Amino acid sequence: MPKDTLTVTDNRTGKQYEVPIQEGGETVRAADFRQIKVRDDDFGMMTYDPAFMNTASCRSAISFIDGDKGILRYRGYPIEQLAEKRTFTEVAYLLIFGELPTHDELEAWTQQITLHTMVHENLKKFMDGFNYDAHPMGMFLSTIGALSTFYPEAKDIGDINNRHLQMLRLIGKVPTIAAYAYRHSMGLPYVGPNNDLGYAANFLQMMFRMTEAPYKPHPALVRALDVLFTLHADHEQNCSTNAMRAIGSSQVDPYSALAGAAAALYGPLHGGANEAVLVMLREIGDISHVPDFIKKVKGGDGRLMGFGHRVYKSYDPRARIIKQTADLVFEVTGRNPLTDIALELERIALEDEYFVSRKLYPNVDFYSGLIYQAMGFPLDMFPVLFAIPRTAGWLAQWDEMLRDDDQKIARPRQIYIGAGRRDYVPQAARG
Ligand code: CMC
Repeated sequence: MPKDTLTVTDNRTGKQYEVPIQEGGETVRAADFRQIKVRDDDFGMMTYDPAFMNTASCRSAISFIDGDKGILRYRGYPIEQLAEKRTFTEVAYLLIFGELPTHDELEAWTQQITLHTMVHENLKKFMDGFNYDAHPMGMFLSTIGALSTFYPEAKDIGDINNRHLQMLRLIGKVPTIAAYAYRHSMGLPYVGPNNDLGYAANFLQMMFRMTEAPYKPHPALVRALDVLFTLHADHEQNCSTNAMRAIGSSQVDPYSALAGAAAALYGPLHGGANEAVLVMLREIGDISHVPDFIKKVKGGDGRLMGFGHRVYKSYDPRARIIKQTADLVFEVTGRNPLTDIALELERIALEDEYFVSRKLYPNVDFYSGLIYQAMGFPLDMFPVLFAIPRTAGWLAQWDEMLRDDDQKIARPRQIYIGAGRRDYVPQAARG
């Protein structure tokens, strides 16, 4: 008998099946269970896994997480090293191409992205059509979808060069669209890209420039935003990345797929948690109210937002870097007054048996909102700030999916629990 197999006995028939164990001894293929049948014409055994709690949907070489050890790597590089030593633009290249760029490759890549930061005038008119109080994330994801009508050639996803061009366009244009969404919601004129500035600095000037005078973002704030972009660039098969892959598997153009991924990110359980942290800190209001708040959470009344994670069962490595970055930002902007409440919450929670026994530690969202707020971003821009860098990750994952011969159109099975066959009854007879 081959060694790496799982023997399954079906007690209904007494038959035994050998299911090969693959991928380093940790995986079986769900399709291998189809051979398990009671009758020859049965469909075969399926696996049931709502929310993909224990199902790998792909093989991926992009990001790696070890939740118990608090490890996150992009293409093998520890996130701490990338955040400290590299820029977001380099990290986007790494995610998409698999290797860090050489000097010349980086120059060309940066220049190409910069050349794609402008948007068509009609896209601005499209954005003008949104109501004055439209949510920036709603504007962002709709406008990304609208881009597909400006670049119909993007449909040709089988052409690698064409794919590459659309990826450049998307990475170049997402900060512009994000900033325009903000300016529209504030009733401010759009500020176009300044190609003399780097990726994060240009985004800040498109957001915040007020007069004709050149806008000079503070270098420490530019650096902090760049680090935050790096930390949010990819995170393996999360909800929005899974949406990007699932929509992209229909072979639709990347703008349409990315609009869907951004829609998934919009939800409060995904890209909206950092906003919820700020709302919670405001509600607590004062450091002296922290013990009472913790008591309420332990009693089952609400959650400590920004704590806990489905994968990380130790300190989220991104949270540690964000905490350090916050200090650098506050030196420039002044301390966010809510910081002391956050620090006290963390201090108490990390010593408290309730949080310790459940392995609840600060996640990426616990401190990021404090930084964004100190930098002048309104709360409803927080998911948009997440979507800008995650665009690189979504595109890397989309491209990887298209190159993977194992992949087909995503089409889960279901367990039907509805009515059996029944005949139509005319309304008159239904009463
Ligand atoms: N505050 C208090 N208790 C909590 C919290 C929390 N933040 N998170 C989990 N628990 C408790 C939960 O009540 C449960 O306790 P018990 O076993 O007594 O019922 C236990 O811990 C396990 O929780 P769970 O809901 O089964 O864990 P999950 O893996 O399904 O949920 C989570 C993960 C992130 C949704 C959850 O920890 C949570 O709601 N956290 C607050 C929201 C938040 O910060 N979300 C951002 C996540 S990071 C975003 C990203 O990486 O993209």
